[in-house]
Amino acid sequence: MYQSGWLGPDQSTGSPPSVARGRDARHRVQIPIRRILSMPPRVIIHNTISLDNAVIGFDIDIGLHYEILLSYKPDAMLIGSTTAKTGIEMFLDSEEPEVPADRHRPPQDPADPRPVGVFVDSRGVLHGLLHFYRRLEHIRDVVVLVSKTTPEAYLAYLEEREYPHIRCGEERVDLAAALGELAERFGVETVVTDSGSDLNAALMEQGIADEISLIVTPAIAGPATKKLFGSVRTPRTLELIASAELGEGRVHLRYRFPG
Ligand SMILES: NC(=O)c1ccc[n+]([C@@H]2O[C@H](COP(=O)([O-])OP(=O)(O)OC[C@H]3O[C@@H](n4cnc5c(N)ncnc54)[C@H](OP(=O)(O)O)[C@@H]3O)[C@@H](O)[C@H]2O)c1
Repeated sequence: MYQSGWLGPDQSTGSPPSVARGRDARHRVQIPIRRILSMPPRVIIHNTISLDNAVIGFDIDIGLHYEILLSYKPDAMLIGSTTAKTGIEMFLDSEEPEVPADRHRPPQDPADPRPVGVFVDSRGVLHGLLHFYRRLEHIRDVVVLVSKTTPEAYLAYLEEREYPHIRCGEERVDLAAALGELAERFGVETVVTDSGSDLNAALMEQGIADEISLIVTPAIAGPATKKLFGSVRTPRTLELIASAELGEGRVHLRYRFPG
């Protein structure tokens, strides 16, 4: 049983869409959807933050975080490698080995409503760890974004285990290009981030994000934590599109970038 955390919603709460994966009936299926004209996906940055804009260092209501994330009905969740690795270290036995069944891509059903888990990992931080994510019930597939400088050993690891991957960008992943390819190859129209501050800052800085969704929590985390958008250099003005009280002092705010 996987616990909640930055690994996704708690499987025991019933909050995620639950579709059996059929691991025993495993067979290889080609990616079914290839659209001829694909628009870039709509990208929503989703975070739970403290009043002083931290993404860690205070109590986060994980159930609420994922309930709202999944309410956007994302076709893909975009996950940073640091967030992914931290999630395994915090919530799982990171020594748990891969088993032979983990080495194969699960069958893909076009009618499966679950999002694809898309991992940004140019440095191969998740080498030897992706089986933890392939086992999760709330994502239907694991796709990895890599760059030209990604270590060959990691690329071999991905190939051997049938992890679909998109290679674009020199040092780091070219996020805009990768999202375009996700739309084309996987029919992805809506992406919600499941990341901390660094990946979300890059999406903001590069003008890729369309919306920001924040669960503001009445807590002060203090100075020794990562702050959302702390590294963003380009000033931007956004429009409020929704606000709602969530109880216990929490507020949900949605903003969009004009134009
Ligand atoms: N409060 C919340 O809502 C929330 C949500 C999720 C996670 N978290 C917490 O946030 C923490 C992790 O946050 P983090 O900021 O350290 O890590 P992160 O958000 O996971 O960001 C690291 C990822 O961003 C990519 N990246 C950064 N800059 C990039 C650029 N310019 N172009 C392309 N890719 C870029 C990195 O790619 P490469 O390394 O592959 O180059 C890496 O995959 C964890 O403690 C986690 O628990 C909080």
